Amino acid sequence: MSNYHIKNLEEYFQVYRKSVRDPETFWGEIAEENFMWQKQWDKVLEYDLSKPEISWFKGAKLNITENCLDRHLYARGNKTAIIFEPNDPSEKAEHITYKQLHERVCKFANVLLENGIKKGDRVCIYLPMIPELAVSLLACARIGAIHSVVFAGFSATALSTRIIDSDCKMVITSDGSFRGNKTINLKAIVDEALESCPNIETVLVAKRIHTEIPMKQNRDKWLQPLLDAASTDCAPEIMDAEAPLFILYTSGSTGKPKGMVHTTAGYMVYTSYTFKNVFQYRENDVYWCTADIGWITGHSYIVYGPLANGATTVLFEGVPSYPDFGRFWEVVEKHKITQFYTAPTAIRALAKERLDFSENYDLSSLKILGTVGEPINEEAWHWYDENIGKKNCPIVDTWWQTETGGIMISPIPYATPTIPTYATLPLPGIQPALMDENGEELIGNLVSGRLCIKFPWPGMARTIWGNHQRYKETYFSAFENKYFSGDGALRDSTGYYRITGRVDDVIIVSGHNLGTAPIEDAINEHPAVAESAIVGFPHDVKGNALYGFVILKETGESRLHDNLRKEINQIITEHIGPIAKLDKIQFTEGLPKTRSGKIMRRILRKIAEKDTNNLGDISTLLNPEVVQTIIDKAL
Ligand code: WTA
Repeated sequence: MSNYHIKNLEEYFQVYRKSVRDPETFWGEIAEENFMWQKQWDKVLEYDLSKPEISWFKGAKLNITENCLDRHLYARGNKTAIIFEPNDPSEKAEHITYKQLHERVCKFANVLLENGIKKGDRVCIYLPMIPELAVSLLACARIGAIHSVVFAGFSATALSTRIIDSDCKMVITSDGSFRGNKTINLKAIVDEALESCPNIETVLVAKRIHTEIPMKQNRDKWLQPLLDAASTDCAPEIMDAEAPLFILYTSGSTGKPKGMVHTTAGYMVYTSYTFKNVFQYRENDVYWCTADIGWITGHSYIVYGPLANGATTVLFEGVPSYPDFGRFWEVVEKHKITQFYTAPTAIRALAKERLDFSENYDLSSLKILGTVGEPINEEAWHWYDENIGKKNCPIVDTWWQTETGGIMISPIPYATPTIPTYATLPLPGIQPALMDENGEELIGNLVSGRLCIKFPWPGMARTIWGNHQRYKETYFSAFENKYFSGDGALRDSTGYYRITGRVDDVIIVSGHNLGTAPIEDAINEHPAVAESAIVGFPHDVKGNALYGFVILKETGESRLHDNLRKEINQIITEHIGPIAKLDKIQFTEGLPKTRSGKIMRRILRKIAEKDTNNLGDISTLLNPEVVQTIIDKAL
């Protein structure tokens, strides 16, 4: 029996039982047999979930890039590590071998060192999906610097908040980016953000769109000449198992984003193990995850997980709709993709288009399909299964989060029978629990509740950067000694899990997690706005869209309302980014509130969903009369 590569259901159950009975032996064996360590650990796991303090492989020493690069050089030096597929299909794809990637990472790491970056320093990466993005993550890891990637669709304000929160010393960016038929001037966004970030000493700028841009003296440097001059020798910094590898921000219920901290050894073991099993990766496969490296999916399943397995991973710069809706399938045919991993929102968008966009391409190389980021609806699942997988590719509906580091609940292809909309069974090592409102664990099947994990796993985030108390309050306080995910789930009669969605004030729009509080904070900065409340409502492509209820300081003339709507979305774009724009904005004179003054979002959600027959008891509200006036004007 191999712990590492599960091949059938019986083996899954055996491995799962072992992982629960004796987690330390289970993870210890996986870690020992599959990675390169500079020093063995003293203890596989130490934990106290009440604090919470978690330590995996304590005492071990390693460098994750030795595991992702160096150790492959002998057997896989000339194997392609990364296929870069540019935005424009007429631009040639680039195949980067393990040997070349190793050289590029070493050179980049030397450039970081020469520019004053040391072990433990934070480096902010704000780049489009170009090879330099993957290389810069690995270069930081090579020298023990902590990377903090900010998705290049975020605004200047969002970028500066993140740079300040983790006190970064350097920003790595590009002159601009290509996205479909648009070009975006990223450097201008960085310049604006840096007006409020005095601690940034250096900005390294990659060339992508080749436009003239202002370079600030003594701060901004073109990357390429520095790389050209750098040595290809760079000894890996030997790190403690629990040394922070990266920070990645995720939205929360309150205004400030949470900088989730992932550490080195546990994250490596967990992403590598889950990649191998969930995608049943084999040596000659060509794996493609369409996510952006700006999100956790890209960190774990474009960069670290695949490279730790010596895999070939595709880095795609473009969008599914450019030059037309056949683009994904053209890339599948061109690179003979074997595993394809995308988001339900992309599937829904493509399913709305003509079928010949996919029928025109040879998809026969595909073996396994995956989805992540939000619940997948049954229709989208079937469309994916029939038109892309030709009913011949298992679909892995993978549930996990930025905080969990890697996939937690998912079918294992060929082992776990799939059912549409079910993430199915926990991966080995993962012990889910469903909790009721009174904090009791729901035992047995056919139950639904709040999804928690009751035992540590190696990939879990260890803290929130600079705010351990918030980490404890957000994830370990709702239910004693358990990690609370913020999601609801049900367990069916066979023990399969189905994720039902967020139970907090986070709304997932096109796969992006958006907290309602930061959006409301942004809207409330508009001088005409007194108060606002955001809720989600179902949208057939985005999954959810945003509905804003806004109270104006002065009612004003309704002919001005359209302008106000534009201004409100503009303010949101400036504070967060275009992904957080509202689809509907209703001006109202009041918001339903409890007697303690809390907005009753449940009622607003029902109104936004047009489900007003069943509002429940509203008589206890402070202002029950306001509900009908909102319903009357609902959009
Ligand atoms: C949601 C993305 C249903 C969930 C890796 C979670 C899902 C949030 C699924 C995390 C899935 C992710 N089915 N819901 N297969 N995968 N989610 O941090 O609400 O960007 O809490 O991590 O996405 O989003 P995040």
